[in-house]
Amino acid sequence: MKIAILPLKLIIISSLIFTVLSCKNETTNPKHSTLNESIEKKVDSVLALMQINEKIGQLVQYSGKWNATGPSSTKGDQHKLEKLKKGEVGSMLNITSVASIRETQKIVMEHSRLKIPLIFAYDVIHGYKTIFPIPLGETASWDLNIMKQSASIAAKESAASGLNWTFAPMIDVSRDARWGRVMEGAGEDPYLNAVVGVARIEGFQGDDLSDINTIAACAKHFAGYGFGEAGRDYNTVNVGANELHNTILPPFKAAAEAGAATFMNAFNDIDGIPATGHKILQRDILKGEWNWSGLVVSDWGSIGEMRAHGYAEDKKHAAEIALNAGSDMDMESYAYEAHLETLLNEKKISIHQIDDAVRRVLRLKFELGLFDDPYKYCNEQREKDNVYSKENLAVARDVARKSIVLLKNENSLLPLSKQLKSIAVIGPLADDKDSPLGNWRAKGEYNSAVSLLEGVKNAVGENTKIHYAKGVDLTIPTIAPGANQFLLPLKFNTTDDSGIAKAVEVAKKSDVVLLVIGENAYQTGEGRSQTNIGFLGLQNELLEAVYKVNKNIVIVLMNGRPMDLSRASEIAPTILECWHLGSESGNAIADVVFGDYNPSGKLPVSFPHNVGQEPLYYNQKNTGRPYSNKHVTFSGYRDAPKKALYPFGFGLSYTTFSYDDLQLDKNEIKAGGDIKASVNVTNTGDRAGEEVVQLYIRDLVGSFVRPVKELKGFEKIMLNPGETKTVSFTINEKTLQFYTANNTWEVEPGEFNVWVGGDSTTTLKKSFTVIE
Ligand code: BGC
Repeated sequence: MKIAILPLKLIIISSLIFTVLSCKNETTNPKHSTLNESIEKKVDSVLALMQINEKIGQLVQYSGKWNATGPSSTKGDQHKLEKLKKGEVGSMLNITSVASIRETQKIVMEHSRLKIPLIFAYDVIHGYKTIFPIPLGETASWDLNIMKQSASIAAKESAASGLNWTFAPMIDVSRDARWGRVMEGAGEDPYLNAVVGVARIEGFQGDDLSDINTIAACAKHFAGYGFGEAGRDYNTVNVGANELHNTILPPFKAAAEAGAATFMNAFNDIDGIPATGHKILQRDILKGEWNWSGLVVSDWGSIGEMRAHGYAEDKKHAAEIALNAGSDMDMESYAYEAHLETLLNEKKISIHQIDDAVRRVLRLKFELGLFDDPYKYCNEQREKDNVYSKENLAVARDVARKSIVLLKNENSLLPLSKQLKSIAVIGPLADDKDSPLGNWRAKGEYNSAVSLLEGVKNAVGENTKIHYAKGVDLTIPTIAPGANQFLLPLKFNTTDDSGIAKAVEVAKKSDVVLLVIGENAYQTGEGRSQTNIGFLGLQNELLEAVYKVNKNIVIVLMNGRPMDLSRASEIAPTILECWHLGSESGNAIADVVFGDYNPSGKLPVSFPHNVGQEPLYYNQKNTGRPYSNKHVTFSGYRDAPKKALYPFGFGLSYTTFSYDDLQLDKNEIKAGGDIKASVNVTNTGDRAGEEVVQLYIRDLVGSFVRPVKELKGFEKIMLNPGETKTVSFTINEKTLQFYTANNTWEVEPGEFNVWVGGDSTTTLKKSFTVIE
């Protein structure tokens, strides 16, 4: 009898509560340090209705390849379908389109007892269908407004397709070019990762998560994933307290403060503890010290992978470790659904921990407005109107051209005149309409980017002859439409050089050569570490052959990581770093090549002379024996320079800038005080141009050794020819503090250097002292 009555009671209570819930639509504040009282009450009321299987179900996330007509009939999908019907799934990833999302949501709404809506997640990393530059490339713009804008367009497009949650931004500081996922982040500097991460979070989430144009962001991968040994993906990370707190965690702290709705943990271990099972990171720091009330999702299968790490005996043990450590949602490990209830009965985990995790999931669902209307993001008309629109493509072009970095431009070979008689466009990536979309291109359609060949043709008039030759294929076979990138063998062409002769022929008869080489889309990204960061396949042979017959070479680089450009920069007068620029790649590059846009990008990563220098980053420590003429032995290599070939922060323009009169308004402050640094920047050339003015500091003596330089601010300014602007930065407690040997963030008294300039090698310096 009891069994029969209970569900009825629940139904009555739940329908009462759902009536209460649906009469709201107040703005939901996405800042997760302050809880919204009314949402908390609703969360509590739903929680009170839930049975243990439903609670655990909220902590489960499945991937699904579902059609509009419902799930396919594989055994795995059948299992998922049953779970959905029982209300034992909290979220789905990889289901896209309004039709498929509505269909899946309907399963829960029609069959489950409590009808708690699903959240739909997807890796919207640099655009949804309108593809923007890969995050590393976009970071090179140093333009936080456009990064925010591109994230907000990505959010609008994906929300119009029914999605609620992206797994971005990646804010892993990454310093090893061998690591394939360098492409996905903001480079080697913690400050840059922090401000870029915040801009992207603000772009995705807007001011109100319940707005139908916004989606929840996810700061990932918490933590240390960018420090995998020797750039090997998924690899072990060995960092101590100093590196962890001062380099790896600051972008995450900034993300938590900015109200990132979710965090994702990571595949790697940190000094022997897998991040997914890392209690200090997730419970003590993120949810404790930082008082963040969002949701932590595991990385794909990372709970189960703790067995392979040798940290968990079996899946049950892995589930116990992960939940205890504060991983709220299990992405595709099937560990929580199988074992949490038993673990609870065995008292290895507590109901308090489960409730806390469920609360975090429900909170997000309320914030997104899904309890008001589970289908609120599902509107086919919106999907049609908002996705891949002309307006979005126009922004993608602007973002793309701002992301280009001019690395070398001898004798001002660029910009080219549109009146040239002939231009050769050569290389395996010259007419590649797919690689510019880069890896993690969400719904970016195969071969949908504007190739450089097309971009050049769009830019010049009939009087300019365009000669095209591919020269060499980069891979064998070339990448097929719809291929699963993780399964691609990526076999490089090292034998077929039959196209080089034609490339030489067209180079010979042209005024200038645009040589488009580098990496294809799938050379970088997850699981794409490489020991060789040069031009793979026969691209070097192509470069040498073309160079023999035409010295007017503009190397147009497409790539997702810092590359070894030593030979290229020795012989080519001009190098244009174009990353993987997205849907409008060819048009954006043509804008720069022909001078319709004056390049303004700066490198967010150091480019080495050769791979042996990796990991290479400007904000290194000095060591006890830095390179100096005085020492016969020093830290560094005998066969390579110590410095980068192209340093962090570097990038040229078609005009030139001078920096002078660096001033500090004081030369002594107390900890907690402010100093103003100002500098005059002048456009000394004959074109208007933008410059990224960068502020660096060095804390000369610290209780932990401090880096030789640290970026602490920047401003992108526009200057007309001959114009001078005074740029000022405020240096305050936040600028100067670090995580000290006292295990706290504080400013240590002593001497500091300040530099301002156009890249990290700037020597324009002043000093001041912080007194007790
Ligand atoms: C990646 C994550 C990604 C997830 C879901 C994992 O393999 O590491 O960054 O969000 O898959 O696709």
